[in-house]
Amino acid sequence: MKFFLDSANLNEIEEIASFGLLDGVTTNPSLVAKENGQKNFKTIIKKICKIAKGPVSAEVISTDYKGMIKEGEELAKIDKNVVIKLPMTKNGIKATSYFAKKKIPVNVTLIFSCSQALLAAKAGAAYVSPFVGRLDDISSNGMSLISDLSEVFLNYGFITEILVASIRNPIHIVESAKLGADVATLPYSVIMQLFNHPLTDIGIEKFLKDWNNK
Ligand code: E4P
Repeated sequence: MKFFLDSANLNEIEEIASFGLLDGVTTNPSLVAKENGQKNFKTIIKKICKIAKGPVSAEVISTDYKGMIKEGEELAKIDKNVVIKLPMTKNGIKATSYFAKKKIPVNVTLIFSCSQALLAAKAGAAYVSPFVGRLDDISSNGMSLISDLSEVFLNYGFITEILVASIRNPIHIVESAKLGADVATLPYSVIMQLFNHPLTDIGIEKFLKDWNNK
């Protein structure tokens, strides 16, 4: 399972890369805005690509087809690892087909149903991003969407990768891994939570105590 970091913060990206855990990065307009990056979006993406050395999703702001193509083409020029992130709309799917024909990878974002993911896969998306946390937030079961997608993609041998997004806790990752999801994009805080177990801390404390009592 590949780990992407869901962040536009360079310090966080550098830290996760230093653990050797970073396979790629996903950003979205909210994450970029959090870093005050609206004006220097391309510079931020360029810097992220330098650190990440793997796929980096950069999302278009346009909602019309022509605007998506223009923005996507500009973003794709930034670095060979840039993945164009397009929303799950009619224009987004049309633009996905356009970029797929040009062999430019697309991540279709804001996926909330199996039927939406099917459309994105058929249009040639490199990744689909089902948002599990936001589904859980409205009392829907995010993980059952991942289970459905895994089954359907396997049935037809789609090469589109399932990129589990909107992850809120370690259980989301473990469940995604059990279902064979290709990628999980994790907020920094959730990656940090993955390290922890109280028995590990107690174990280290005991080993050191025993060692020093010798
Ligand atoms: C993924 O690409 C999205 O940017 C992200 O996972 C959304 O997460 P949220 O629902 O916590 O905002």
